[in-house]
Amino acid sequence: MISAKLLKAGLMAAIVSAVAVPVDAAKPARSAATTARRPWMNGALAPAARVALLLPRMTQDEKQTLVVGFFATSFPAMKFSAPAGSREGSAGFVPGIPRLGIPPQWQTDAGIGVATQGAAQRKRERTALPSGLATAATWNRALAYRGGAMIGAEARASGFNVMLAGGANLVREPRNGRNFEYGGEDPLLAGEMVGAQIAGIQSNGIISTLKHFAINDQETDRNQGNAIIDQKAARLSDLLAFEIALEKGDPGSVMCTYNRVNGPFACENPWLLSEVLRLDWGFKGYVMSDWGATHSTEAAISAGLDQQSGFPFDRKPYFGADLTKALAEGRVTKSQLDQMASRILFAMFKHGLFDRPIATAPDDLPDALLAKDAAISRADAAEAITLLKNDGDILPLAPHAKRIVVIGGHADKGVIAGGGSSLVYPKGGNAVPGVKPVAWPGPVMFYPSSPLDALRRRLPDARIDYVDGSDPAQAAELARSADIAIVFGTQWAGESFDVPLALDAGGDALVDAVAAANPRTVVVLETGGAVLTPWAGKVPAILEAWFPGTAGGEAIADVLTGRVNPSGHLPVSFQTSLDQLPHPQTPGKGEFHYDEGAQVGYKWYDSHSLTPAFPFGHGLSYTRFRFSGLTARIASGTIKVQFSVRNAGAVAGKAVAQLYAAAPGWEAPRRLVGFDKVELAPGRTSQVTLAVDPRLLADFDIDKSCWRLAPGKVRLELGESSANFAQSATLALAPAAIGKSTSLCRSGKAG
Ligand code: BGC
Repeated sequence: MISAKLLKAGLMAAIVSAVAVPVDAAKPARSAATTARRPWMNGALAPAARVALLLPRMTQDEKQTLVVGFFATSFPAMKFSAPAGSREGSAGFVPGIPRLGIPPQWQTDAGIGVATQGAAQRKRERTALPSGLATAATWNRALAYRGGAMIGAEARASGFNVMLAGGANLVREPRNGRNFEYGGEDPLLAGEMVGAQIAGIQSNGIISTLKHFAINDQETDRNQGNAIIDQKAARLSDLLAFEIALEKGDPGSVMCTYNRVNGPFACENPWLLSEVLRLDWGFKGYVMSDWGATHSTEAAISAGLDQQSGFPFDRKPYFGADLTKALAEGRVTKSQLDQMASRILFAMFKHGLFDRPIATAPDDLPDALLAKDAAISRADAAEAITLLKNDGDILPLAPHAKRIVVIGGHADKGVIAGGGSSLVYPKGGNAVPGVKPVAWPGPVMFYPSSPLDALRRRLPDARIDYVDGSDPAQAAELARSADIAIVFGTQWAGESFDVPLALDAGGDALVDAVAAANPRTVVVLETGGAVLTPWAGKVPAILEAWFPGTAGGEAIADVLTGRVNPSGHLPVSFQTSLDQLPHPQTPGKGEFHYDEGAQVGYKWYDSHSLTPAFPFGHGLSYTRFRFSGLTARIASGTIKVQFSVRNAGAVAGKAVAQLYAAAPGWEAPRRLVGFDKVELAPGRTSQVTLAVDPRLLADFDIDKSCWRLAPGKVRLELGESSANFAQSATLALAPAAIGKSTSLCRSGKAG
């Protein structure tokens, strides 16, 4: 893995020798004597006050120590050894300063749990949540928080105090190989779900890192490519997702991304790092670079980069020896270094790194803990699974289905996961070892949670056969005489490459063959994101299970058998063909012209009157929900929307109420402006109140860097997808009544 990364980063021979740094096994002791000696250790003081006490006591070398992070995985071929004191096999390490009680930063990937770098000799076996996109498909903020809290607790228990988690890039390019790490195509949904996850992670007294800032919407040519986007359009789309995630999650750090944005690299981009992130959004934490994303010393520092990460991925020690020289020559000032160190310390104080020290770094976590955490992952997966089609209510599997054939997708062994730096290694190892690529960005991982075994346990009276699907004719033959055929289709995706919108080789032909033999064919998808479903008209049921994590097989069986009523809704649109995309051609190199601007996902399809195969927000249930009584008003400066949801079916279920708004002059016919997940027993009704963020009804004034609400009528639409509305209402927007909301205009630029 590292070799590919190093090549990509264009590393020459700049390898540092490992620095021997004693680990500060910091003890939680906060005696009066300690705080007298080290007054910044007083947890009763505000973070900024603690920084003000500590900074003057630091030497220049010590300040510089804080601004350079090392890769924490040894790589003998490059003569690189992970620094002493780091957690071998992990993503990063910033040495501590024992003299002053400053703890090291032990950094681990990432969004689905405690990952291990592919180059590591020993893999940590930890709990994997479903993919970020799967969690977004739950539309359940509380679940996202709970999942974050769980992986953050595993990070802490594994010896880490910085988790590089919180991927808020919008799914702008549906073929982006990392879409599975993100929160979908809508800024509100992505921002809320990723923000909730970050807050959950940080509830453990560790830092979480919002990434990859920003417009890192494809992997092809990610290290050099230049994303070209209109600034206003970016504020209404990708940047809005980050803005919301930042507000909801309050991450200690933000990771700037590899690519260029409108010219400069993101990690030396004054517009992104100074103007948007700090001036407009008021971010007080620190910016770290992605691994190999720093390209300069002065330019990066004056743009707002505080920490060069993952050395030696960068071409040069820009924040090491080069910075020392730049300071000596006055090209970087001492006050700039103070500011960088201050921001890092501020986040470390604020998020508990001083007050809740990390004590140990065990290889293994107790089985009982892993079992408890697997249950959290399973609950997330079960709510993420999205029922796309269910003609004739063929699902849940009827108790009288006595002969079932399960086909393909290694469903006899486990469930697939996404590749790259975020990969979490499971207890029990890869269920299907050897699938290529076996090295970076692989291995292709299957978590050992077999849907087949789980189904057999739930349906002990049925005969359930399995065939691997490599021979479609043989699979079709077996399916012909079965009551039901269940075909599993996988799509592997990962970091550093983009993917076609298709099932892995042979998947479509397999579905075709089985569907032709048995009209009662159910397709279960395990994909990174949207795929084309050319066979959708030939099968009665389709279930999207995403990358469902550690206990994914159990969750799939729960939904297939009706133990869990599906409540996932699409965080991305499913296209009928590549022609529907703003850029039908495969993502290329050089300049990425995002001239669709803020028309991302459903906003593009709606604007161009294109009907996707399955629209954003879509998801079926085994029950039916009825909406009524939609009203909207402005009270005490807040836009309040109320309505009722009733479970009109026979089984308990969870509705995803989605509120869209429409007004003339917007970038698209409608925007998602609110949502809630509502659990209801059969026959029960619930009253829902949503507060609509006025920014979602506003336009962005790029000259003033402010949101602007225009007076006029806004149409509100309430329903269960972006294309299916049960109720509508009109809201008269009176900007004066909403008041001088600080969230509308916080910019230092505003006049
Ligand atoms: C990825 C980041 C990750 C970092 C450390 C990079 O390749 O883009 O998401 O946190 O590596 O592993």
